[in-house]
Amino acid sequence: MGYEEMWRDLLPIGRVSGGGYRRFSWTAADRECRAWFTEEAGRRGLTVEEDRNGNLFAWWDVPGERRDAVLTGSHLDSVPDGGAFDGPLGVVSSLAAIDVLRERGVTPARPLGIAVFAEEEGARFGVACLGSRLLTGAIDPVRARGLRDADGTTWADAMAADGCDPDAIGPDPDLLAGIGSFVELHVEQGRALDVPVGVASAIWPHGRWRFDFTGQGNHAGTTLLRDRRDPMLPFARTVLAARDAAARHEAVATMGKVHVTPNGVNAIPSLVRAWLDTRAPDDDAVRATVAEIHAAAEKAAGEHGVEVALSEESYTQVVGFHAELRDRLAMTLGGAPVLPTGAGHDAGILSAHVPTAMLFVRNPTGVSHAPEEHAETGDCLTGVEALAAVLEDLLSP
Ligand code: GLV
Ligand code: MN
Ligand code: MN
Ligand code: MN
Repeated sequence: MGYEEMWRDLLPIGRVSGGGYRRFSWTAADRECRAWFTEEAGRRGLTVEEDRNGNLFAWWDVPGERRDAVLTGSHLDSVPDGGAFDGPLGVVSSLAAIDVLRERGVTPARPLGIAVFAEEEGARFGVACLGSRLLTGAIDPVRARGLRDADGTTWADAMAADGCDPDAIGPDPDLLAGIGSFVELHVEQGRALDVPVGVASAIWPHGRWRFDFTGQGNHAGTTLLRDRRDPMLPFARTVLAARDAAARHEAVATMGKVHVTPNGVNAIPSLVRAWLDTRAPDDDAVRATVAEIHAAAEKAAGEHGVEVALSEESYTQVVGFHAELRDRLAMTLGGAPVLPTGAGHDAGILSAHVPTAMLFVRNPTGVSHAPEEHAETGDCLTGVEALAAVLEDLLSP
């Protein structure tokens, strides 16, 4: 299957009205995406293996042990109503790059693998890059097994329902030891690139926090204003405080997910649970931003007779990609621009263990994690050529 046929088959999977995607881990859409990948890899004679953490790998092996392998790939899961390119572009481009290498008659001197990492977005179970975190030991498997989705299903149960053994999850040093380098191609997610392809320098530190504002559920008509303990009020102040704190620290802060209990139009809520995503160029700015938002939340909660509790759900420190590999990529591509990003990636997790780099493909809309996310076909094909050139270089003796 050529490049366009791959997209033709992949694009309908998990698409919802409005044009976005809902491809959450271990759901029917995710299974279909995995089946699609397994078929495309099999068509190319690659050996497909699922590791113990739900990550898929397709290998172009060479005789002998799997050592010093070059790994590429990305993820196929999505955020709620996400775009078509975040994740899948890296996977499709990896398969297409193998086609290019074969057309050129390249004989790899070491194995080449394509990874499809599980739960990169953390959209269902809350922790981003869960598959790569488990593989590298960046998350305790006991905690991972117990992560719950909105319906209370655990990662362990969701995995088991798909035929995987949740007791086996955890670090896989042997698999990791066989990987010599990792290059993830990804759509650029802002407006940072004005040529088709760039090379990543760094990922901003970023994290997710959860606020629980607990008040007193009550009647919307009979409860006088002075008698209320309405958790929606401190929550609202916290949203505004997040914007102000982020501006003060040259950070970004987002409260994009909120669960209200009981969520009735004529009931004062008893609980507002809201999630904060904060990112900045350095760790201190992230920490200072979150501390200020927390202080504002506590102050507002106190004023309204509401309890507030803050918990950190995940944190990823600043990632500087492997300088030698980054420069090698930029040089192979004839001096491609080198740029940082505020988006998280499995490459950021892998980079603590394996020389890692990233390629970005231009996003003309500057929109991502939304249906309008876009990349021009011409730029994507330039991305495939760039990835193929980089892989050919890394696979040479
Ligand atoms: C994932 O794509 C993230 O950056 O949140
Ligand atoms: Mn994403
Ligand atoms: Mn992504
Ligand atoms: Mn991401």
